[in-house]
Amino acid sequence: MYKIAVVPGDGTGPEVVAEGVKVLKAVSEIHKFNYELEYYNLGGERYLKTKETLPDSILNDLKRMDAIYLGAIGHPDVKPGILEKGILLKIRFELGQYINLRPVKLYAGVETPLKDKGPEDIDFIVIRENTEGAYAGAGGFIKRGTPDEIAIQESIHTRKGVERCIRFAFEYCRKRNQKNKVTLCGKTNVLTYAFDLWERAFYEVAKEFEDIETDYAHVDAICMWMVKNPEWFDVIVTDNMFGDIITDLGAMIQGGLGIAAGGNIHPKGVSMFEPIGGSAPKYTGMGVVSPLAAISACQMMLEYLGETKAARGVEEAIMKVVKHDVRNLSAGKMGYSTSEVGDLVVKYIVES
Ligand code: IPM
Ligand code: MN
Repeated sequence: MYKIAVVPGDGTGPEVVAEGVKVLKAVSEIHKFNYELEYYNLGGERYLKTKETLPDSILNDLKRMDAIYLGAIGHPDVKPGILEKGILLKIRFELGQYINLRPVKLYAGVETPLKDKGPEDIDFIVIRENTEGAYAGAGGFIKRGTPDEIAIQESIHTRKGVERCIRFAFEYCRKRNQKNKVTLCGKTNVLTYAFDLWERAFYEVAKEFEDIETDYAHVDAICMWMVKNPEWFDVIVTDNMFGDIITDLGAMIQGGLGIAAGGNIHPKGVSMFEPIGGSAPKYTGMGVVSPLAAISACQMMLEYLGETKAARGVEEAIMKVVKHDVRNLSAGKMGYSTSEVGDLVVKYIVES
């Protein structure tokens, strides 16, 4: 019996999470596993009413779950930073989810903005460090609001944090067993302290993985190669900030935010799975956004829980939907409503 916390959150989060839950139910009946859902109301609405972001009681509940399934956090009436830091980043940090796993995979049938590139070219995964770097929250103001003000925002890189992330990337690459190559994405030509540490840790850990090829690229160059030669990549490992940036680029080349999902992983703890698209306030309640990103996040959650066959079943159903039914995943352009797309996924799961 899996205990899964569901946090539908803001904007279109609840609509897409509902489809993921629908798919979970269908696949659990076929692959015979049991689960229990616990819903938590977190996000902008709660904050506006109560000034609470993530109460300790809920945080403690989350620590006792097998996984967390998240929709989206972000509200147009709440100042940027409050909900992100108070909910999303707080969960990542407090639950020690030190890996952010973001597959960039183009399914056959999905449109990519890259000319002359297809599914055989776009299939890699970004492993983003998820609890340190510029996200650590180290810094502050001096003389804020005066002409002499100073803002300091430090980027923290610990040997332990960097090394465990890199080791995770090599292990993941070995298990994935595709091109058997890990690319470190850094900026060793300018950030000569932080990425010196990353680079040394990278090549030291690499010695434990002689079957895996190593590769390095600066973050700016990676942005170029992801567009020009995405087929070069297998596993990319990088720090929190660079990982945040390059995974939005990754989402676009795999067909957009309507299909891109991610996992916030603590390999021995409680992990959280989410579509990476955000709350999309202007489409809220219209039933026009793609639920496939949220359904992919559900697939990643099943994989992580060890329900490998169920995860595979969900992925195959998604692949059928984009091949036969929905080619354009942009909001309002699918030709189906959010829940109809969820129904299509369920139909293919049941038929298989
Ligand atoms: C992401 C998001 C978050 C991040 C924001 C919402 C804090 O952009 O998950 O990539 O920057 O990590
Ligand atoms: Mn981001």
